[in-house]
Amino acid sequence: MKSALVTGSSGLIGSEAVAFLDERGFRVIGLDNNMRRDFFGPDGDTTWNLERLRGATRHFEHRELDIRDRDAILRILAEERPGLIVHCAAQPSHDLAASRPFDDFEVNAVGTLNLLEGARQSCPESPFVFLSTNKVYGDAPNELELVELETRYDYADPAYREGIDESMRIDATMHSLFGASKVAADVLVQEYGRYFGMPTVCFRGGCLTGPHHSGAELHGFLAYLARALRDGQTYRIYGYKGKQVRDNIHSYDVCTAMMAFYEAPRVAAVYNLGGGRANSISVLEAIEQLEERFGRALQREYVDEARRGDHICYISDLGRLRADYPDWDITISLGEILDQLAVLAAPATT
Ligand SMILES: NC(=O)c1ccc[n+]([C@@H]2O[C@H](COP(=O)([O-])OP(=O)(O)OC[C@H]3O[C@@H](n4cnc5c(N)ncnc54)[C@H](O)[C@@H]3O)[C@@H](O)[C@H]2O)c1
Repeated sequence: MKSALVTGSSGLIGSEAVAFLDERGFRVIGLDNNMRRDFFGPDGDTTWNLERLRGATRHFEHRELDIRDRDAILRILAEERPGLIVHCAAQPSHDLAASRPFDDFEVNAVGTLNLLEGARQSCPESPFVFLSTNKVYGDAPNELELVELETRYDYADPAYREGIDESMRIDATMHSLFGASKVAADVLVQEYGRYFGMPTVCFRGGCLTGPHHSGAELHGFLAYLARALRDGQTYRIYGYKGKQVRDNIHSYDVCTAMMAFYEAPRVAAVYNLGGGRANSISVLEAIEQLEERFGRALQREYVDEARRGDHICYISDLGRLRADYPDWDITISLGEILDQLAVLAAPATT
């Protein structure tokens, strides 16, 4: 039986990966210690998602394990020698990192090193998929000339119509401590590819989203917005007049990219992975579209200060991924993503 190890398996992407692989006949070991709750409080608790997965899968085993526990990580990789590693466990918030610098670095950078080294020692042939982030580019994308439209910013130069590709520089920009710890991990993942010849990939995510996000104010923009509308909470918009743009990809389409890599792995691959222009939306536009779906107005507050290092307009250029994996594409539109979030956010049981 094919086997996979998924870290962060109770989170948004990890849980989608577990279900996706389980459905395709893999035995899946999931590692998650619910640290998202520790990071974000009750909104971030992923217990509900673990319970959902347990009911929905056939060959899934959960281990409550911390990726910072080096001995345990080396041991589990030696015992299981999984045929695929999908590394999603992280401190994922740009803003939270400054208040938890040691936890952020130890989870994001050192935790990744533990997994890479465990993989090198025990299963170096197994594809290693790492969920990186567009924050590795820091705020360099903000140097691009922009035009201000009625509800969003956009790139002024038509050369950027498809968005930002992997040639964007990653140094000499402000990353936030989160971006810095993810850069460390991203470069390590590439290095285990280049130096040791392992099949590794960094998927530099735009906004990854879907109904299984435990949305919190500091992470999970669309899921949190849907929840704020449902619960009548006040939603705070931070700077840029709410015209900042994000490209959104459904967690299912992240998994199909992961699978494409598993089936035809490369060494030290790096891809931007977001929703692309078709799935891009500004905060103002997202509010309007979700208000329509909920049939009610959002209580909102404007904070006239942008989050430090926040992207003003970020759209992932998917050209390299599409060129290397021509059968892969986005299958879930932004409209469908918003429909799913609105439906799932509706009952108080989510
Ligand atoms: N969601 C996004 O918009 C987005 C965007 C770009 C990149 N990413 C990256 O994708 C990956 C997955 O993100 P997500 O949205 O699914 O995040 P998530 O917070 O929903 O999931 C991460 C999971 O990891 C677990 N975890 C955290 N620390 C751990 C530790 N020390 N040991 C074991 N488990 C631990 C958490 O409990 C959580 O369940 C992350 O690496 C993140 O940086 C996410």
